Amino acid sequence: MKYSRPSVKVRPPGPSARAIISRDEKVVSQSNWRYLPLVIKDGEGSFIEDVDGNVFLDFNSGAATQVLGIDHPAVVEALKRQTSAMATYQPIPGYFYNELVVELCEKLAGITPGGGEKKVSLGLSGADATDTAMKLARWHTKRKRFISFTGSNHGLATYGALSVSGYSSSTVRGFSPLVPEVTHIPFPYPYRWAGEKEPGQWVLDYLEEHVFRTIVPPDEVAGIFVEPIQGDGGVLVPPGGFLERLQEICSRHGILFIVDEVQTGFGRTGKMFASEHWGIDPDVVLLGKPLGGGTPVSACVTRREIMDWPHGSHVLTAAGHLLGCAGALSMMRVLEDERLWENAARVGSFMKARYQKMQNEYEIVGDVRGLGLLLGVEMVRSKDSKEPGVAEAKKACLLAFESGLLTAYDGLYGNVFRITPALNITERLAGVGLDIMEEAVAGVQRAQRHR
Ligand SMILES: Cc1ncc(COP(=O)(O)O)c(C=O)c1O
Repeated sequence: MKYSRPSVKVRPPGPSARAIISRDEKVVSQSNWRYLPLVIKDGEGSFIEDVDGNVFLDFNSGAATQVLGIDHPAVVEALKRQTSAMATYQPIPGYFYNELVVELCEKLAGITPGGGEKKVSLGLSGADATDTAMKLARWHTKRKRFISFTGSNHGLATYGALSVSGYSSSTVRGFSPLVPEVTHIPFPYPYRWAGEKEPGQWVLDYLEEHVFRTIVPPDEVAGIFVEPIQGDGGVLVPPGGFLERLQEICSRHGILFIVDEVQTGFGRTGKMFASEHWGIDPDVVLLGKPLGGGTPVSACVTRREIMDWPHGSHVLTAAGHLLGCAGALSMMRVLEDERLWENAARVGSFMKARYQKMQNEYEIVGDVRGLGLLLGVEMVRSKDSKEPGVAEAKKACLLAFESGLLTAYDGLYGNVFRITPALNITERLAGVGLDIMEEAVAGVQRAQRHR
């Protein structure tokens, strides 16, 4: 192993990082998030090295893409093998056939939640998987409308995905008109819920009693998009019964139940897929982020009778790229051989307990939630007011970074740490990161008191 612990030699961003950031600002589109001034040079497992020689422990794992950590030897070996066999050919599912593509689709068809025999449409990003599902749902149902949730992120880079996402008004400002006929309803947010009714019940009563009665005929809805746990929306775990009732509403009205497991899939939440926590049976499942083992691969998986569109109706030149297929198959092999969802559940419980202890001890830690290694830590100005601690999250993220820990924050107000380490992280390393994070939170709270 190249690294065993975080080590900050030069306060980041150091001189080499600053020089590259200044070049970046001149030529790279500045539309990306860029949470921290980190310029990556190398990495291994749960560690990232920057261009100034600082080593960071990674609680973000590339926006939850690296379930095995960076450069897992089995994935690297599979990519090398594929590179020496054939590395560069592109439009395979688009034009021709290849066994590796079939193997990957057979594997996904076999493990993805939802009953029946399945078919798979491969892609490169969560956003294109969402667009695939939108096109397919309209084609198959001959209906035009969609329902989705505020706070959801189904992708921001394509017009379809942007239109069903309800992530933030800053992602749609200036880009209208979006794809029409999408109606957003709130996603249950128990921590901030002030009503008397249980929030999941309130939302679905609102859908049935208001939306369906007044503005959206349910028999015109092609699909409802939902994340089983809203990730970027602030790690919102829906109350029990919510997803089950949503599925029942879909089946009663002939609406496709489209479950986005792009962030929650492949062991992240302590089960292979988050759908398993509630025993739901999606009609369509979207996969992405970790699927390619660090290479860009996404998939839209559904029953064979739903994927009934004709030749030539949906083609993406680089989909099914052989390096991506090799990366995905080797990632799933390691995940299953090592049953990494079990480690995610175990280390996730340990981490959650530590964050809950912090919640008891620090006035600015308002809520702790999540399943497995998808944890949300909501920062507030004070527990009584619950006023979103946006500056607090930003400052704690920066302080942790300066001490060698990578985190990111998100959510409706931008005040929720989304903690998503690699699934093979050890309790010991998780503890090292938690110590750094606690020190950062304590520092922010001390500074807040002295203001
Ligand atoms: C649940 C979910 N779906 C879809 C996407 C979009 O993925 P991509 O950025 O690869 O388009 C994201 C990205 O964060 C996501 O979290």
